[in-house]
Amino acid sequence: MDVNKVIRVIDLVPGSVCELPRIEACKLTPDVFWNEYVRKHRPVIIKGGVSDWPAVTKWSESGYLENIPSSERTRLSRTFNPVPPQVIRHAMHDCGIPEGLREMRSAPDDATYSMPSIPVPKEWRKDLGDYPFLPSGRAKWPRNYPRQRLFIYRNASTEWHYHTMDETLTTQLSGAKRISLIKLDASNWSSYRTIIESNLHHVSCASRFFPTNAQPKKYEGIIEQGDVAYIPPFWWHGVDPNDSMLGATLAFCFRSPIERVGKWRDPATMTMLSTGLRNMPRNVIRASTIAYSSVVRMAKGISWDE
Ligand SMILES: [Fe+2]
Repeated sequence: MDVNKVIRVIDLVPGSVCELPRIEACKLTPDVFWNEYVRKHRPVIIKGGVSDWPAVTKWSESGYLENIPSSERTRLSRTFNPVPPQVIRHAMHDCGIPEGLREMRSAPDDATYSMPSIPVPKEWRKDLGDYPFLPSGRAKWPRNYPRQRLFIYRNASTEWHYHTMDETLTTQLSGAKRISLIKLDASNWSSYRTIIESNLHHVSCASRFFPTNAQPKKYEGIIEQGDVAYIPPFWWHGVDPNDSMLGATLAFCFRSPIERVGKWRDPATMTMLSTGLRNMPRNVIRASTIAYSSVVRMAKGISWDE
């Protein structure tokens, strides 16, 4: 295995590239964030959204994190973050967190490393803070994902995927990343989903598999230390590091407002229900919640596609 070959994923999926909207955190009120972005499922980069967190200034310093004593252990991968993540479990090795960080930090600039989706070590939590645009009363506990997941990496992209529920704040604490988001519709959902989930976008003739007449818009931008990207559910996204330094990204999740849980006949919603058929009790709850979500939208006069 050539562990020094850096894999990027964003450009493997075709589409017309446009700029991901961005807003300065100082201009983003909680009501604007909630009403113009969360309730409409519009992704956005919030510049400087957490720039006052101690982690933003400390975690990129060589030696800072690895010198925090910790008895917790983790798993270290030499690959990018694939989907589904379980496919690399046999290729990972156990290590202490400080030892893993030292190995990552001292590696060559073209080496790929990942500690994917770990809980925030308790000794590190003092360096985190709050999101000024998301009051705690609106940050309800997510339905499916953990509240916080931490990704520590070097040169490790995250494969294209989407979330079936919950809102995500991708919070960049060290290093910079390029992010690309796509909202598929009925004209391209099936083709894109099949190709990506089959990993055909990684083969050398990938362009021949994608349709040429229904290519979506790709909303792209760079998130730097202290920035936050809001990622709604059902938006496909791929992430590439924008540098080779040791990066740290916190994924903070909160519950979707009831009117944004799902919509009948929307391809993402129908896929969520059909793939959950093996778990009938959970699917009945999902279907009921989606039905209630539709009723709420109707009662409030809200459009799913606005
Ligand atoms: Fe994601």
